[in-house]
Amino acid sequence: MTTHHATLIPGDGIGPEVTDAALRVVEAAGVSIEWERVEAGADIFLKHGTPLPDEVLNSIRRTRVALKGPIGTPIGGGFKSANVLMRQALDLYACVRPIRTIPGVPCRYTDVDFVIVRENTEGLYSGLEHRVTTGVVESLKVVTETASLRIARYAFELARQQKRPSVAAIHKANIMKLSDGLFLECARRVARDYPEIELRELIIDNCAMQLVTKPEQFQVLLMDNLYGDILSDLGAGLVGGLGVVPGSNVGTDCAVFEAVHGSAPDLAGKGLANPTAVIRSAGLLVGHLGETDAATRIERAIEAALADPKNLTGDLGGKATTRQLTDAVVRGLEA
Ligand code: NAI
Repeated sequence: MTTHHATLIPGDGIGPEVTDAALRVVEAAGVSIEWERVEAGADIFLKHGTPLPDEVLNSIRRTRVALKGPIGTPIGGGFKSANVLMRQALDLYACVRPIRTIPGVPCRYTDVDFVIVRENTEGLYSGLEHRVTTGVVESLKVVTETASLRIARYAFELARQQKRPSVAAIHKANIMKLSDGLFLECARRVARDYPEIELRELIIDNCAMQLVTKPEQFQVLLMDNLYGDILSDLGAGLVGGLGVVPGSNVGTDCAVFEAVHGSAPDLAGKGLANPTAVIRSAGLLVGHLGETDAATRIERAIEAALADPKNLTGDLGGKATTRQLTDAVVRGLEA
């Protein structure tokens, strides 16, 4: 059996509880991973003056793959987001989030199945903000041709690989004519190389409405950093909430896998968080390592566990604890 090496960042709040659950599931799936455990986040900021010490980045550069718990970021002031810093420092340019209904998970829809591909390194998250004068601030939205072409190509390649018939480029180029205009123009240029895939163009506000009224029409949604952040949570809401949606941040050299959700301070330490999203993120990591059979088994085991209402956690309307749901997934893998 091959032993893989990967970095583990437990994170803040519910992070340690749900990443522990994911590690148990990976082990039960028979995948051997030697985890290099490093710490980032709010507590680390208090000790080291940075939420993202160099040893975290160096570990990921070495192992090239990481499982990450959520990291809290103060609102309105304080340190910069370790998540944004990490994505920029490692050039994890594609944030990929599969949004799919899972049988057994209560939600309003039955056949949602699309993937969000979010540009992860620039846009309004470039961190370029300044005070012009008292009462006036500016925040700069940076859009480059290089990053826009690169993320558009990622989205079309993913559509081709997964045999998805369309990519929808989401924008607000009617108002932000230059920045979103360039993003859209790059999507059009890339689309020419994929004649079998339809390029759809939707203004973000219309897209938000259509996602709620007719989500089954979407296949791949290509968008910038801020729109992708917001519509990821909306997408999670379509399929049962933040507790179930996994994700990955992919670059040329490394990939970091994490749930869409944050550190859920209201649930931290209670053993009640839904571990599904992080377990499924670990499943994506396992697939990325080439263990595709184990990745499929993890996804099936989680589906089987969630099909039994007694395994549903509080966010899904049930009473199960993090451990009870994880035990059910582990039992399914060991059966
Ligand atoms: P959140 O995702 O932590 O929580 C939003 C709501 O969803 C809460 O009611 C929470 O209890 C619930 N929830 C989230 N994950 C859940 C799970 N696994 N099981 C059951 N319920 C769950 O978002 P919020 O409150 O806006 O952010 C809290 C902190 O997390 C902030 O400091 C924020 O910056 C950080 N954050 C970090 C992210 C990351 O590391 N990638 C992503 C999003 C937020």
